[in-house]
Amino acid sequence: MSSENAVATEGLVKDFGSVKALDGVDLVVPMGSVVGLLGPNGAGKTTIVRILSTLLKPTAGRALVAGFDVVKQPDEVRRTIGLTGQYSAVDEYLTGRENLRMFGDLYHLKPSFVRERADELLAEFDLTDAADRPVRTYSGGMRRRLDLAASLIARPEILFLDEPTTGLDPRSRQGMWSVIKALVASGTTVLLTTQYLEEADQLAREIVVIDHGRVIAQGTADQLKDQIGGDRIEVTVTEPSMVQAAVQAIAAVGAGTPSVEDLRISAPASGGSTVLVEAVRALDAASVEIADLTLRRPTLDDVFMSLTGHSAESDSGPAPTSGRRVRRR
Ligand SMILES: Nc1ncnc2c1ncn2[C@@H]1O[C@H](COP(=O)(O)OP(=O)(O)O)[C@@H](O)[C@H]1O
Ligand SMILES: [Mg+2]
Repeated sequence: MSSENAVATEGLVKDFGSVKALDGVDLVVPMGSVVGLLGPNGAGKTTIVRILSTLLKPTAGRALVAGFDVVKQPDEVRRTIGLTGQYSAVDEYLTGRENLRMFGDLYHLKPSFVRERADELLAEFDLTDAADRPVRTYSGGMRRRLDLAASLIARPEILFLDEPTTGLDPRSRQGMWSVIKALVASGTTVLLTTQYLEEADQLAREIVVIDHGRVIAQGTADQLKDQIGGDRIEVTVTEPSMVQAAVQAIAAVGAGTPSVEDLRISAPASGGSTVLVEAVRALDAASVEIADLTLRRPTLDDVFMSLTGHSAESDSGPAPTSGRRVRRR
């Protein structure tokens, strides 16, 4: 395992009694990169982050952070990393500024450095006006930004972000995204976990997909989309009686077996837009009335579905989000 990697794990296993939270995870995060760990609830994301942050010991396997072994050299690891956990770590009754100073004390930083650094972070994260108000008066987005600021007080080279925007409304999510993008641009290495496909797509160059404690795929969003066979052709017909004829027509021009959802038939397609022309001819010859016909790139939802057999579906619950969330059926 090279020390040029911010993170390198080999065969990481974590058992909680009979629950196998991690089942042999190999993960590499090169220095200077941003890697997104994408998976549904219970996939093992937080367990990985807790092991890498020395908060939890692996049952088996090995993990190096900045070249330091998380079990044998926990102090060195802690000096290198910042962690923004899935749940807030700031004190409700202290002000934003007081919280940042408290974190500075925890890291044994010089008070004069902490004072300056706190002002800098408050400004960077748009919290200067609220700096002297107790955190309990902050909105969810402000708390998340303060959490992130607190984890940056000691200028860590490597930052772990566990579900940085879960539970935030769309506007606050956008705000967090731009803050994270700025951090990455300034050279911080980031490993972030998320259950939102769009978030992984937005923030991470490299995406590692995990499910049931195993890595099931990795690559850039584009590579993952290519893995499942390029473009998809999608036709929507005007009435149910036409579905069967459309399936046959699409099967004749598509590269794979069509799938049907209500009035929409879709299939993998290669050959670019010529397949559209062929589809129009075939559908016309079969007297199918078309409501809509498109050729589209697969989404990460398609990727997740094809990898796991369970869907990545739009958020139908009451959570105040517009993101698409990976969810088990
Ligand atoms: N302290 C614990 N004790 C028992 N089971 C746990 C504990 N922490 C996590 N688990 C289980 O391990 C699995 C992975 O959990 P977690 O890493 O929190 O997933 P994620 O962060 O992807 O939602 C889940 O089945 C979870 O219930
Ligand atoms: Mg978690």
